[in-house]
Amino acid sequence: MSYNLLKGKKGLIFGALNEQSIAWKVAKRAVEEGAEIVLTNTAVSIRMGTINDLAKKCGTVVIPADATSVPDLENLIDKTMEHFGGKFDFILHSIGMSPNVRKGRTYDDLDYDFLSKTLDISAISFHKVIQVARKRDALNDWGSIVALSYIAAQRTLYGYNDMADAKALLESIARSFGYIYGREKKIRINTVSQSPTPTTAGSGVLGLNDLMDFADRMSPLGNATADDCADYVLTLFSDFTRKVTMQNLFHDGGFSSMGMSRRAMRTFGKGLNAQFHDVQDNQFPFGQGEE
Ligand SMILES: NC(=O)c1ccc[n+]([C@@H]2O[C@H](COP(=O)([O-])OP(=O)(O)OC[C@H]3O[C@@H](n4cnc5c(N)ncnc54)[C@H](O)[C@@H]3O)[C@@H](O)[C@H]2O)c1
Repeated sequence: MSYNLLKGKKGLIFGALNEQSIAWKVAKRAVEEGAEIVLTNTAVSIRMGTINDLAKKCGTVVIPADATSVPDLENLIDKTMEHFGGKFDFILHSIGMSPNVRKGRTYDDLDYDFLSKTLDISAISFHKVIQVARKRDALNDWGSIVALSYIAAQRTLYGYNDMADAKALLESIARSFGYIYGREKKIRINTVSQSPTPTTAGSGVLGLNDLMDFADRMSPLGNATADDCADYVLTLFSDFTRKVTMQNLFHDGGFSSMGMSRRAMRTFGKGLNAQFHDVQDNQFPFGQGEE
């Protein structure tokens, strides 16, 4: 269903790799809501993924850019402005990658060259995108910039590895640049902290299925899907959120405010009971230990 929420707006979307990608869902919904968009990703991801199919569906173009390369970003912003015939209104940064996670290097055995890459790709690229857009004066006043984050920026979730540090930096960049761009051009910058979601990047997280199951049991509304996330991001691009800036906005079914839920506790209890019975059965082979 369309509400024409983004009628007349134009935006640049980073990070659609395939149909699972959060950026893919945002792009599709943005067009349904009346926006014009330009898509971008790295040359490799364009070749390996299916972003060209998305571009066809959305009636638009894909402009390759590595978000860690300032010259690439300058070219991208110039070409995007050419495509739109002037300034545009929103940017989605939906980019994340950790070579340490990919290569199985744990947090207590990080490769520091990999760590630099994690930070550059997953966080500093956000600064680069905003800095280039601002220097090119690419965005209309009251524009909106959103990046995707995860609660591991605030809480330790084992297995998220150096991506937790990248997300903490990403959220800080939203605040620091949010002040500058907000004061100057009324442009707002926020991060959306999304539930664990089954995507290519998500599947790199250690034990994603268990994590998703746990988060779902903990959250009163259940996990937010990629489609839910797209709907939420659209509101941040719309004129209904013009005074929301420099925020990290949790979009997680309530997970971030929970300590323990009954559903999670019951599952945990069952697991403990099962372990207890294993031990008892081994200790009392004739079943004396059973309750
Ligand atoms: N999946 C989850 O559980 C989850 C939860 C919270 C937040 N997020 C965040 O959502 C965002 C999108 O991830 P996703 O889950 O849709 O996975 P995804 O794998 O579909 O998207 C990640 C994208 O980053 C792009 N990318 C990597 N390096 C790049 C570079 N140098 N330049 C430009 N683009 C580059 C990839 O090509 C890919 O399109 C990421 O920031 C991720 O950390 C994901």
